Amino acid sequence: MKHLLSAVLLALSSPALAADPAQLSDTEIAHVAYTADNIDIRYAHLALAISDNPEVRQFARTMISDHEAVNAAALELLDKLGAQATDNFLSQKLNEDAEDIIDLLSQLRGAEFDLAYAENELGYHQAVNDLVETTFIPNIDNAEVKALFEQGLEIFKVHEGHAENMVAALK
Ligand SMILES: [Fe+2]
Repeated sequence: MKHLLSAVLLALSSPALAADPAQLSDTEIAHVAYTADNIDIRYAHLALAISDNPEVRQFARTMISDHEAVNAAALELLDKLGAQATDNFLSQKLNEDAEDIIDLLSQLRGAEFDLAYAENELGYHQAVNDLVETTFIPNIDNAEVKALFEQGLEIFKVHEGHAENMVAALK
């Protein structure tokens, strides 16, 4: 689990990535964010299907409602701008990595699942928040899109803090 996660985090931050996240257009960045939200929603549904831990289940429910709300706001803004999110290498990479992580997580049960889910949530939010803060927000051209990402980042930093507490409590 740890090994796979570090590989994912490395892929997100590595300059050796085949293409450069800093070169993505606004609609590609929107697609990455939409994809990242949906992945966290998928992880949360898996947690609700497997975990009996009340804190883990509450965290998962918060992920579903918060990431669904951000995605709804993003779709509304794209619609208003007459734009469509554009699929790209980074969205595809995130989806591929998520498939591997879901395969691994879905084999775990009980406390082992809870800790692995919590650690994945912590690592995932750290990696995506870092990408949003240092690469996406400085490179977004449209002011309204940028504002939406800034709002989203605030919410996701709260998630990161909750995930950190959850990991500490489960260890
Ligand atoms: Fe989240």
